[in-house]
Amino acid sequence: MQPILQYIDTSAFQNDLLEWYDRNKRDLPWRENQDPYSIWVSEIMLQQTQVDTVIPYFNRFMSQFPTVFDLAKAEEQDVLKAWEGLGYYSRARNLQNAAQTVVELYNGVIPSEVKALGALKGIGPYTRGAILSIAFNQPEPAVDGNVMRVIARLLKIDDNIAEPAVKKKFETIVRDLIPDHDPSSFNQAVMELGALVCTPKNPICNLCPVQSHCRAFEHNVVSELPVKAKAKKKKTEVYAIVLLQTEGGDVIIEKRSDQGLLAGLWQFPMIPVGNIGFEHMETWLQNEYGLTVKHLDFAEDLKHVFTHKIWKLSVYTSEVEVAGHLDERLKLVQKSDLDHYPFPVSHQKTMQHLK
Ligand code: ADE
Repeated sequence: MQPILQYIDTSAFQNDLLEWYDRNKRDLPWRENQDPYSIWVSEIMLQQTQVDTVIPYFNRFMSQFPTVFDLAKAEEQDVLKAWEGLGYYSRARNLQNAAQTVVELYNGVIPSEVKALGALKGIGPYTRGAILSIAFNQPEPAVDGNVMRVIARLLKIDDNIAEPAVKKKFETIVRDLIPDHDPSSFNQAVMELGALVCTPKNPICNLCPVQSHCRAFEHNVVSELPVKAKAKKKKTEVYAIVLLQTEGGDVIIEKRSDQGLLAGLWQFPMIPVGNIGFEHMETWLQNEYGLTVKHLDFAEDLKHVFTHKIWKLSVYTSEVEVAGHLDERLKLVQKSDLDHYPFPVSHQKTMQHLK
């Protein structure tokens, strides 16, 4: 046993937590069965995204792509469309890529073995552990931010949880805490406790089923844990989004690169005004895309915050004449067809200004 675990009665802790989970667990759509495909989809959606947001996306996704075969053979654009609004779109593209691997290499059977599962695109140590424990009942840790918070408080650990080595330490600890008789419920119970009771702010310690085991509670330091070093300041990028419509109302859209931020999604042309200045917008559109605009009318300012950067966006509209060749990155579409294309949320918000 690791020295840090000598302070708690592991089996009493497991029993108190599991009994609470059994009585208090939320009725969530991915808890209806232990189908590995639905557990997998749910865990990918739940990374970085709240349960309440995920539920309707999960239900729609499972109706549209009920099996790993349906997902593997779908059009990428349809998968991104189903993900529209959830953010972190590489999750969707990796999920489909991994579904194709599962069909090609394993006849559509999701591997239940650490190495094969972890080799799939988009499946890191957390997701791998979540699938192996929740779907396959294997005593594997599934440590995310919520789990680190619960364990940091339970065992009064003040290491910086932003460090990869510290996450490894938590995985080792959880491995020794998981009961062999029900790894699936145990991991979900820790997650559930983190979501409902042992919350980041104002945890409800007086309703906590494992309060008597909690060393942070005992020493009155719950609000000081976990320790997380401050993130770096986000860089701000300034763009003008231009909504360009022909006299007939058709709209110019652009496909983003297959690499990097929001890869493969569609957008309205974006002028890097932070670099070139607002006074040169018309010249830039001419030089970059060969587009001649009548007059750019200001519509509104927007801000969009990503994990690593902030976009400051000024939205403009203009009529545009499209005669002859259109730059190959661009496409002219009917306004009523826009909803067939996946757009980032920041660009969807600008659509109200279309004529
Ligand atoms: N967050 C991550 N995985 C979860 C799960 N299986 N249930 C509830 N919240 C979660």
